Amino acid sequence: MYKCKNCGAVSLKWVGRCPECHSFNTMEEVITAENTPKILKFKKTPPPVSPATVLDWQNFNNIARIATGIKEFDLSVGSGLVAGQSILIGGEPGIGKSTLMLQVAEKISLTGLNTLYISTEESLNQIILRAKRLKIDSKSLFFQALNDINEILYSIENGNYGFVIIDSIQRITIPQSDSAYGSVNGLREIAHEITSLCLKKNCGVFLVCHVTKEGGFAGPKTLEHIVDTVLYFDSSKRDSYRILRCYKNRFGSTDEVGIYEMSENGLKGVKNPSAYFTSERQPDSPGSVVVPCLEGTRAMLVEVQALVVPSYMPVPKRVCLGIDSGRVSIISAVLEKKEGIKLSSKEIYVKIFGGINVQEPAVDLPVALSITSSYLEKPLPPNFIAFGEVGLTGEVRGVGNPSARIKEALNMGFSDVLLPQSNVKDVKDVKGVSAINLHPLTKLKKIIEYLV
Ligand code: TYD
Ligand code: MG
Repeated sequence: MYKCKNCGAVSLKWVGRCPECHSFNTMEEVITAENTPKILKFKKTPPPVSPATVLDWQNFNNIARIATGIKEFDLSVGSGLVAGQSILIGGEPGIGKSTLMLQVAEKISLTGLNTLYISTEESLNQIILRAKRLKIDSKSLFFQALNDINEILYSIENGNYGFVIIDSIQRITIPQSDSAYGSVNGLREIAHEITSLCLKKNCGVFLVCHVTKEGGFAGPKTLEHIVDTVLYFDSSKRDSYRILRCYKNRFGSTDEVGIYEMSENGLKGVKNPSAYFTSERQPDSPGSVVVPCLEGTRAMLVEVQALVVPSYMPVPKRVCLGIDSGRVSIISAVLEKKEGIKLSSKEIYVKIFGGINVQEPAVDLPVALSITSSYLEKPLPPNFIAFGEVGLTGEVRGVGNPSARIKEALNMGFSDVLLPQSNVKDVKDVKGVSAINLHPLTKLKKIIEYLV
């Protein structure tokens, strides 16, 4: 608030000339009770607080985990849930959040914890239909269809639940607040209220949150610091399989991912992703190469295919699905220079199968092989896989966690691995590695020799 030194007139905004006495430069800011910064109102002597303590982790018992028994889910949250854990689970609409939550809620309730599923989007009948489809059968799983934040808080406060699921928090209304419906501020208030209450009651909570490609990400992003764990259903995949990724976890690592397939009766964990992604591969076709990729710390085999055909355009096409086209252009330029393969007059199509998007550099060498293989119309020998990064000068560089890749290759019965020389020392100790022929490379030279 501003007050005139001269006549005492007040104004909410600063003005150069007093509206009452018309004198210039006499308005000065004054501190009133309303505009006093909040920090000045803090009590100097707060209520009793627990004393500060040293971090005596040697005498600390490990936190008990609540395993849901859904293997892929337990993996993504780091070997099970913790009592009182707050989890944000995001994903595009229709990706399967409600389905997964219902399945997880059932399993939690079967461990003996009363579980409450609050739906803010669907009516009880709709949930019952889904429960029927998923064959949910638990006497400790309770449902409520609520929207008002006051009713939700009341329900949690007065119930005795081990876990609460709120699906979704974007549809909760706050009657007494000015925050716009679904606004970021409103979301934050709601998440804060719910997680604080659950923390007080030592009740775990799942907050389901929609994420859309059109900037809707801002909402859930602002909630990430409020919760212990953040899980996102990978939204780039519109296939029947889903990857649940952990982006933050106060109770475990964020490296793990869960891989699911949406079926008639809900989400099912994919037991053997490598077999799933390479099941329809035809090993004797030119252009097809298998890559052991890493998803978190897990290796899984995926198939990369290339098709090289003559181009009649001034600028030949490079079309890529599931892989960055810049990466493919670089590899084709290196192949042209180092292997003498004339690709500048060819169209190149590269595809990763299963709707997967491979971002990691380990796919470079397999892409180089598959392009060469398609160009020469020569397939790779059966049971042959490859991984490694390719540099602009044609050098083949080591990649992360080669032993996990080799183990997966062994599991799936592959007998020959083309890999960077610098990774050989890391895989020497892998159990059963003697059953596999290692073909180390330092340079992208003569990869043609590996084709049959
Ligand atoms: P849903 O869990 O409602 O997605 P979200 O809560 O993320 O919006 O389900 C998404 C889709 O999954 C829906 O289109 C129907 C399909 N679905 C199945 O294919 N099988 C099932 O058993 C269920 C329950 C759903
Ligand atoms: Mg839903």
